[in-house]
Amino acid sequence: MINLHDIRYVRLGTRDIEGASRYAQTILGLQLVRRENGRVYFRSDSRDHSVCYFDGDPQDHTVAFEVTSPAQLDAAAAQLEALHMDVRRGTADENEERRVFDHIVFHDPSGNRIELVLRPQASSRRYHGTRDAGIDAFSHVGLRTTNPIRDEAFWTTVCNARVSDRIGDAPLLRIDEVHHKIALFPSEYPGVQHVNFQVGSIDDLMRSYYFLLEQRVPIRFGPGRHPTSNAMFLYFAGPDGMIYEYSTGVRMIHPEEETTHVPRQFPFGPEGFCTWGAKPDIAEFSV
Ligand SMILES: [Fe+2]
Repeated sequence: MINLHDIRYVRLGTRDIEGASRYAQTILGLQLVRRENGRVYFRSDSRDHSVCYFDGDPQDHTVAFEVTSPAQLDAAAAQLEALHMDVRRGTADENEERRVFDHIVFHDPSGNRIELVLRPQASSRRYHGTRDAGIDAFSHVGLRTTNPIRDEAFWTTVCNARVSDRIGDAPLLRIDEVHHKIALFPSEYPGVQHVNFQVGSIDDLMRSYYFLLEQRVPIRFGPGRHPTSNAMFLYFAGPDGMIYEYSTGVRMIHPEEETTHVPRQFPFGPEGFCTWGAKPDIAEFSV
């Protein structure tokens, strides 16, 4: 069993690194960490970085998860290889690029590029966003799946993910107490479908809503409240077709609930995503 400790970062290709960097700072509110060889790193919390934009294919997405010991990293590699999945050990240069001690790379059954990292660097400085978006932390990704039932089995049997709830066949998966750190979305192709940051309160969320309207950033869904995690949410357009999300008030599933929690089934469609009646302008939420 691969024990995913936490989600760590996303790496996103872009043909417009300056545009993406400007967006990450002035719209999203992330803090610039460094620029280095066609890569730009951004913080949202105590992690060294949670988003790295690089000069490359906008379809090239990676999601990284932390494992907590060399033995776990080796065991993960062995387990994936036993399943005949291609696993590659990161090079020293690649480790340095990611600010990790060691890592492996593989692709999930849909073809999503996943990195498992050991000893990722924390930042020694307090996080402060470029604008006051109220971001607390990088919290989850929406991950595209070409077969949600197959991929749910992968994440829950090969890895330690547990199903918190389902919307249609799409599972919301937790790896710790947070209701979900991975949300699988049926799609024709792999990739990151959205990137979520938790904000401090509904006031932060609504302030950003009016800010984004003023900046003419297309709102994709919300403000609304998820019936699944109970989080209030706002989805909006990012560079290269990416969707970003702010949310607040996500439900926790505490250790004592682990044995008794039963995933609830919600319908696939707007009502499965919002209790307030917001209608999504997001293909993956509407089909
Ligand atoms: Fe989300």
